[in-house]
Amino acid sequence: MSRTRGVLVVAVLAATVLVACNSARKPTTSTIGNAELGKKAIEKYGCGSCHTIPGVKEADALVGPPLTHFAERSFIAGQLANTEENLARWIRDPQAVEPGTAMPNLGVSPEDAQNIAAYITTIK
Ligand code: HEC
Repeated sequence: MSRTRGVLVVAVLAATVLVACNSARKPTTSTIGNAELGKKAIEKYGCGSCHTIPGVKEADALVGPPLTHFAERSFIAGQLANTEENLARWIRDPQAVEPGTAMPNLGVSPEDAQNIAAYITTIK
């Protein structure tokens, strides 16, 4: 192997390792919101007064179902397929999805709902 080729191989390997490390550190990619802002919004709206939500301070209530392992769930409130868009829809207006549900409409803004959905879908 020529010296130039050897250097090239090393360079390609180094680049591969860099790319691999970088993607490992990236938070779960959300297509609709920012999970970090979503976590703050969850605290602002007080979702933790009814739900246990991993990673959110003082969110340990059991009035509503715990939002543990949400990334692995198939359905939202047994009604909607578990996608980020549907989560945002549910969070903004649960009554419209399931009339009579005990989850209240908290007047969550569209942007906050998208960020909250982004956070909840990172809960493994
Ligand atoms: C007054 C209590 C209450 C508050 C406050 C509340 N929820 Fe709920 N939530 C519920 C109840 C009860 C259910 C179950 C609804 C059902 O299945 O009909 C529910 C269901 C859910 C679900 C679906 C859970 C599942 O297992 O499928 C999600 C997601 C959710 N809530 C997110 C939120 C978020 C985010 C907030 C804050 C913006 C919030 N909730 C605030 C009571 C509450």
